Amino acid sequence: MSEHDEVYEDAVLDLSGESLGEEVASSSPFFVSKKAAAILKHEILNRYVVPFASKVGRYAPNGRVVYLDSYAGPGRYEDGTPGSPALILHAAAQMASFRQLDCYFVERGRKNYRSLAQLVAEAQDQGLNAYALRGRAEKHLAAVLDRAAGSPLFAFLDPFGLGLSFDALTKEIFGSRARQGLTGRHATEVLLNFNANAVRRIGGLLTSNKQNPSKPATLSAMDAACGGDWWRQVYLDAPDNQEAVRRITHGFVARVSKEIGSGSWTIAVRNRAHHQVAYNLVLFTRHKDGMWLFGEAVSLAQVEWRRAQLPSEENGMLWNPIDSFDEEEEIRTQEWIRAIRGNIERLLVVKGSFLVENHHKEIMAGVAGEARERHIRAAVKELYREGKTYCNGVGAVRQLRVSRA
Ligand SMILES: C[S@@+](CC[C@H](N)C(=O)[O-])C[C@H]1O[C@@H](n2cnc3c(N)ncnc32)[C@H](O)[C@@H]1O
Repeated sequence: MSEHDEVYEDAVLDLSGESLGEEVASSSPFFVSKKAAAILKHEILNRYVVPFASKVGRYAPNGRVVYLDSYAGPGRYEDGTPGSPALILHAAAQMASFRQLDCYFVERGRKNYRSLAQLVAEAQDQGLNAYALRGRAEKHLAAVLDRAAGSPLFAFLDPFGLGLSFDALTKEIFGSRARQGLTGRHATEVLLNFNANAVRRIGGLLTSNKQNPSKPATLSAMDAACGGDWWRQVYLDAPDNQEAVRRITHGFVARVSKEIGSGSWTIAVRNRAHHQVAYNLVLFTRHKDGMWLFGEAVSLAQVEWRRAQLPSEENGMLWNPIDSFDEEEEIRTQEWIRAIRGNIERLLVVKGSFLVENHHKEIMAGVAGEARERHIRAAVKELYREGKTYCNGVGAVRQLRVSRA
């Protein structure tokens, strides 16, 4: 592909530079330092990939798991903070004694690629199987999928604007692996950034009267990303932008899940609690363990996101924001435990006895993505102390059998 084509693609497919959104400070380039939305994204990624690789790699040939980051960026921010590639390479090094995490990073931007290639070269020097690929995500997809044949695959798709097309996601990534006859032992999971700013911006074109020569191509690119033009009417019918983003994200996730036969989990990511959604992170997984592990990762990541909201020390506060943070976390914890208790008591009425592992959705109703397994244990222990269950809450949480006393 010629350089000219790549520039054209910029305008049509990725909308980089146009749709950087809330993640980008207006006065500073994106990769200078990390904003809160990226903190949540990276905490989720970092806390999920290790348990995922540990689990699915157990049955994989040579314990080999493949990781693909199709929109990798420079690897590290200019201030040295790790971006997704640096985080994952660090995780790969930590796991090296028991798992082989082969990492493929794709980056189109020349400057970002140079920095990424440097990071990857350092990782190779440490003996890791890491590869930096320059160019568009679409261009490298088939080759990476070939290299992943026979191994579990985790793909992180994190574009600024629109990413891979619906067909590339469903038919190439998931479809190709199904055609290879890969089973549950060769898990395929995707964590995808569905960009809310792109939805708002491109949706706005539907009602805009401004002259915009690239409008038809941009709308077609959105059709390709969403798997059809259904999103256009959804946008037009929504009462406001926030609702449009919610409905279109939901429609997209439902269509992908149906097409590939998977479960999904969507996390709305903001820079501040009162800000509009910057993007939705969506996990597609076919395994219930994936839901449990992801729930743990998201819950822990949310703590770090809330911590990142604390005012910085230089602000000359009269009270210590760290103390009030801990107090607020404790209040949250108690609320989650109360909610989980209620959910378990309802399940006990209906079922009499149940295995925790089989009831993630019911047990975590109302607190999913906030609470985690330790809060389930605390709720079960409270119910045990009150004589409401025979289960004492000791042992692996997911394996607890809770029965009515
Ligand atoms: C949101 S940033 C990635 C951030 C990175 N995943 C992280 O968490 O540190 C998106 C990156 O994708 C690159 N990019 C944009 N379009 C691309 C394409 N079609 N293929 C590959 N990379 C692309 C951009 O240059 C940018 O560096």
